[in-house]
Amino acid sequence: MSNALKILITSQKGGVGKSTVSANLAAYFSYISGKKTSLIDFDHQATAGKWVKKAYPIGIDCMTVDLPNAKGSGIALLKAKEALRKCVDTMEVVITDLTWTDVLPPDFLFEFDLVLVPSSLSRVELDSTLEFVNRFSFVFNSRLRNPPKLVIVPSRVDNLQTYESIFSKSFNAGFFLSPPVMYSTSANEFFGTEFFVMTTNKEIRENFIEFGRSIEQLGEIEADLKLNTRQNALTHKVSGSILDRFRAVRNSSENPSVRAAANDSARIKPGGRIKAVIPSFLMMGRDG
Ligand SMILES: Nc1ncnc2c1ncn2[C@@H]1O[C@H](COP(=O)(O)OP(=O)(O)O)[C@@H](O)[C@H]1O
Ligand SMILES: [Mg+2]
Repeated sequence: MSNALKILITSQKGGVGKSTVSANLAAYFSYISGKKTSLIDFDHQATAGKWVKKAYPIGIDCMTVDLPNAKGSGIALLKAKEALRKCVDTMEVVITDLTWTDVLPPDFLFEFDLVLVPSSLSRVELDSTLEFVNRFSFVFNSRLRNPPKLVIVPSRVDNLQTYESIFSKSFNAGFFLSPPVMYSTSANEFFGTEFFVMTTNKEIRENFIEFGRSIEQLGEIEADLKLNTRQNALTHKVSGSILDRFRAVRNSSENPSVRAAANDSARIKPGGRIKAVIPSFLMMGRDG
């Protein structure tokens, strides 16, 4: 059995930041963590693949796969699984960028350890995220098979936003909320030239490293769970998360300073972060 950490970055909506997160998360694992990392790009436009191929080479193995559009034939699934199989035996981390279409069956999600769904905090994007999550909640809630962990990635977030809009939605599956990938005006300029984790822009670099670290930590917990060595690790470690603080913010006044504090606690400085296990994750139960 392969021990590679398999991460799918997906949503049915375009323009939410999937390719940006995919290319830069691959760079995080390769450059910051020094892990053998593969990027599989299932998108026709192959944005993430182009980014990795054009930018300064940092050893990311890159595969672009065009999935056939024949719904119901099973060919797309075969091709997608074959691409994954090619990577998992030789790689430590496999990052997959896919705009979800119904060419693939929901079962495909079970191939992954983590399913990351980037979404801005805007109503329109959150509604689309909610629809996606609820449509596949039976996968994420599965008790018969080892389900992938669902991670919602607030993407293109500006400093003034809080997570309130996420908490107000009725998600039918438990999920993790990663630290946000902040909006940066340079995101477009970076395409194919620079990775967020390598830029001299300290704010962008640290923000993305913090995000990458949280995903890596969740991957480690998932690996532990898989090995059955620390069955209770997850519930134990997540207890006392900053979720409580967010609840407090939600239930308290509309006081702007309290709202700002919510964002601050979501972005604790990197040094302080390493000590705790998944300090920046919020774990949401089905009842929120
Ligand atoms: N963190 C960010 N800050 C600013 N712009 C971003 C950010 N992430 C993505 N974008 C921009 O949003 C657009 C869509 O991003 P992309 O990663 O291609 O999304 P998707 O793969 O979901 O279609 C691009 O123009 C990209 O530069
Ligand atoms: Mg894309």
